[in-house]
Amino acid sequence: METDKKIILTGDRPTGRLHLGHYVGSLKRRVELQNSGEFDDINILIADDQALTDNADNPGKIRDNIINVVLDYLSVGIDPDKSTICVQSALPALHSLTFYYMNLVTTARVSRNPTVKSEIQMRGFADEGLPVGFFCYPISQAADITAFDATVVPVGEDQLPMIEQTREIVEKFNKTYGDTLVLPKAMIPENEFQRRLPGVDGKAKMSKSLGNCIYLSDTPKTVKKQVNGKMFTDPQHLKIEDPGHIEGNVVFTYLDALCTDDHFREYLPDYNNLDEMKEHYKRGGLGDGVCKKFLISVLEEELSPIRAEREKWQNNIGDVYDILADGINKARKKTDAVLSRVQKSMRIDYFDDRSIIGEWEELLKQPLN
Ligand code: TRP
Repeated sequence: METDKKIILTGDRPTGRLHLGHYVGSLKRRVELQNSGEFDDINILIADDQALTDNADNPGKIRDNIINVVLDYLSVGIDPDKSTICVQSALPALHSLTFYYMNLVTTARVSRNPTVKSEIQMRGFADEGLPVGFFCYPISQAADITAFDATVVPVGEDQLPMIEQTREIVEKFNKTYGDTLVLPKAMIPENEFQRRLPGVDGKAKMSKSLGNCIYLSDTPKTVKKQVNGKMFTDPQHLKIEDPGHIEGNVVFTYLDALCTDDHFREYLPDYNNLDEMKEHYKRGGLGDGVCKKFLISVLEEELSPIRAEREKWQNNIGDVYDILADGINKARKKTDAVLSRVQKSMRIDYFDDRSIIGEWEELLKQPLN
């Protein structure tokens, strides 16, 4: 369906506190988009039902992390007056849509989804058996996105296959039932280092079980410990005079994702910018200690206002609850309206009015043979 509105829907699974990878890959951008004033409607979904698809045995973990994720949102600057924050399980329209869309996707197509493929491996479902619910989560994500008539979905790079799958579902739906759904587009960070921030140990992804995260809510002491104690640099750079490597050196990857020339003026005026610093490191003569200290300053500049904001909200959890309740109310109206439209297109709107009585009466007047 064509629309001249600009609508955002994005979301996160509440399986833990949000970390720096979420921040540079998505959250920071969301706040910029929110404050750009360019969008008619912005929605952020806490995808608790999706989180249950691979945590069915541990609903308590999801319950606990809903509050952590909302606090992370509010502390980075998501403003509930500008963005609707809502919770998936409180929006029944999403479940109905998922059920209809399931008929428009083949198991072969979901099996080809590269993100699903790698998650099946990672979670051991290949050996243990694959829960049907988990297998279907890309379809439920299509429901999330379309239920808000989203035109733009700001996400990390790993989510691109989900948006691709959503677009296919939209096209199939519109072709089968008539023009009903809005075709969304993914939006990923332009800076390649922001798209996929590695863990502090250099492993591809930040993950709680690997202990390689920097959380937005970490104390300065923990941040320092993660950088000084765990951050992977260049194993061949043994002495300060040795030439160093930038590639795969996590300190530089993080600086690439986060630092600006202003940070150099403020904390490391020996260099004008990151390129000059990298040149010195490559030449030899620049130690990891100096680089890490600079990175910690850059991180603290980002994280300390976030921490302060979190502290404020943390002391007003009743207000946070009200924000969610209000967001859910608004989101329910939007998603129910889309569900009605969908059911109308599919002609399963039998009980919207009594008009089907006449239709059935006509039908029953026809001779049987
Ligand atoms: N799958 C997303 C993630 O793991 C979370 C999510 C659920 C989402 N529904 C969404 C993201 C809709 C964007 C749009 O990060």
